[in-house]
Parts: sequence; C-alpha cells; structure tokens
Amino acid sequence: MKPKVFATHGLFAPARALLERHFEVDYWAGEPRPPRDELLRRVAGKDALICLLTEKVNDELLDHSPNLRIAATVSVGYDNIDVAACTRRKIVATHTPGVLDDTTADFAFALLMAIARRIVEGDAWMRSGAWPGWNLDQLCGSDVSGKTLGIIGFGRIGRAMAKRAQGFDMRILYTDAMRAAPEVERDLHAEYVDRDRLLAAADFVSVHVPLLPETRRLINASTLKQMKPGAYLINTSRGPVVDEAALVAALDAKQIAGAAFDVFENEPKVHPALVARKDVILTPHIASASVETRTKMALIAVENVIALFDGRRPPNVLNPEVLAAK
Ligand code: GLV
Repeated sequence: MKPKVFATHGLFAPARALLERHFEVDYWAGEPRPPRDELLRRVAGKDALICLLTEKVNDELLDHSPNLRIAATVSVGYDNIDVAACTRRKIVATHTPGVLDDTTADFAFALLMAIARRIVEGDAWMRSGAWPGWNLDQLCGSDVSGKTLGIIGFGRIGRAMAKRAQGFDMRILYTDAMRAAPEVERDLHAEYVDRDRLLAAADFVSVHVPLLPETRRLINASTLKQMKPGAYLINTSRGPVVDEAALVAALDAKQIAGAAFDVFENEPKVHPALVARKDVILTPHIASASVETRTKMALIAVENVIALFDGRRPPNVLNPEVLAAK
C-alpha cells in the first residue's frame, strides 16, 4: 500500500505526476485555502503533509495526525511551521530554499523601480482617461541609478538583490546578523554597515529577513524615523517584519517618500489606510510567482517527501536532529 499524503494544493502538473507515482494523494482543490477544521480532518491518518505558507503546522495540527512523518511547506519561509513541535514528535519538516532567489529579487527590484518611477500611478492615470497629455512636471519620481540601496538581511535573496542593484550603479549597503565573506562583499560591491547607518544613508531600504521573534516589527516607529527623508521602503519578506500602523504614520508625516509591499502583517487583510494611498504599491504576496519558480518549489517539496519515504535524507530538512536520532 502506498503511503498517504495530504496536499493542501493541487500543485502543478509535473509535481502532481511525481507525487502520484509514489503516494496515495488527497488534494485540497478548493479556493482559496482549506478552512482549519477541514485541514485537521483531512490530515488525520496521513503519513505526509504538503502545505503552503498559509497553513499553520503546530501542536493542534500534529495532535490530529499521529501517523505524520513529514510536513513539507512549499515556501522558503517556514514561520508557518512550529519546527520545535515537529521535532518533539520526530516529524521531519522541510522547505524549498534556493530556487526562488532570482525570481523574488527580480520582483523586489521591480517594486523598487515601480515606486520610485511612479509606474502604478501612471498606469491608473492612463486608464482613468484623465491624462491631459504630456507636461514637464508630471509624475516626477526619484532616480534609481546611482542611488544608495540598503539591504536588510543578506541571505540568498538579499544578495540577489545586490546583484541587480550593481547594474544600476547603486551604492550597496547591507546589514545582517552575520557579515558576509570578504569575497562576497567584493563580488557584489556591498558594504557591511550596522542597521543605524544603513537606515540613515539608504535611499531605498529593501527587507529580506526571515520572520523570527527578533525580526518581528523590525521596521517600527523608531526605525522608520531613522530613515532618510525621501527614502522608500520595499518589503518582500514577511509582513509582520513591518509595523504597518507606524508605516502609515511615517508616510503621513512625510518622514519617508513611499513604500512598496508584497507582504502584509495580517494577510489577506491590508491596513485600510495603506489602500487609499498613492505613495504605496501593494501586491498580493507574489514575489516568487513565476510559473517556472512555483513549479520548481512544488517539485522540491514533493522530492523532500519522496526522499524520506525512500529512506534518504530529504535535501531541505529543517530539523536534521530528527533524522540523526533514527
Ligand atoms: C514565500 O513567501 C516563500 O516563503 O516562499
């Protein structure tokens, strides 16, 4: 008998085909995401769970799934998974790092360009039919080339962002809990500074940290005050890294010029004061959403599950101590 998997998404055809070769699969195919009680009901009796970042894998869920051997999230961020709770139960947890770095950095840079050059406002104006024709001072934004980019979080995606900024002759500052190797700094022309210096100097601040207790509301009223007047904030990491109410206050006070966000504190809700603003761009958590990349992410999640049931080490395990204990 094939082991049983609950997948909280229909995945993409190549991942589905691979999964079904090895497992008996129950998919959540509804929209948008499974209600919690449905998720708990369907995961019961399954040997593996493939989930998205919208599903909380915590004690409550694990209590409902005594047979579960692996929880594989189709995301690089894994703040949806209580890894310690999985470890206590000897359940392997995996994620999908590596394949989405370029796609996410492309998008973060696109947001940076779009907010600086007022592309979304321009598009809305054209569609409204109200554009009176060209004039010298219409929708003047801010230059990008030659400006200073401050990258908070210099992991794979932060570094991919730096690579893009090089093409725009930007000065690149970064801060991170760990300083990068000298050759990385040299290759990316990136200068390590502390957060205070970064916030004071950057024309664009782009956030690329995971959501951890220490990064929650990292951008708050006091860090926003430290930003350069006229600077822009870009967030493609996790919503709770930014205090949205403080952001609204900083925009109202014109402490910063604008913000472009792909992630939100209480998804799918957005702070109502952000929605009405022209100095803000809002996108629905799609930074990694290319067909190629999302397909690769789904395949990686499936490969992690297959590896475990084949007796191999899943390539992207978050709690290797579970495997070592076996
Ligand atoms: C998307 O936000 C991810 O973590 O993959």
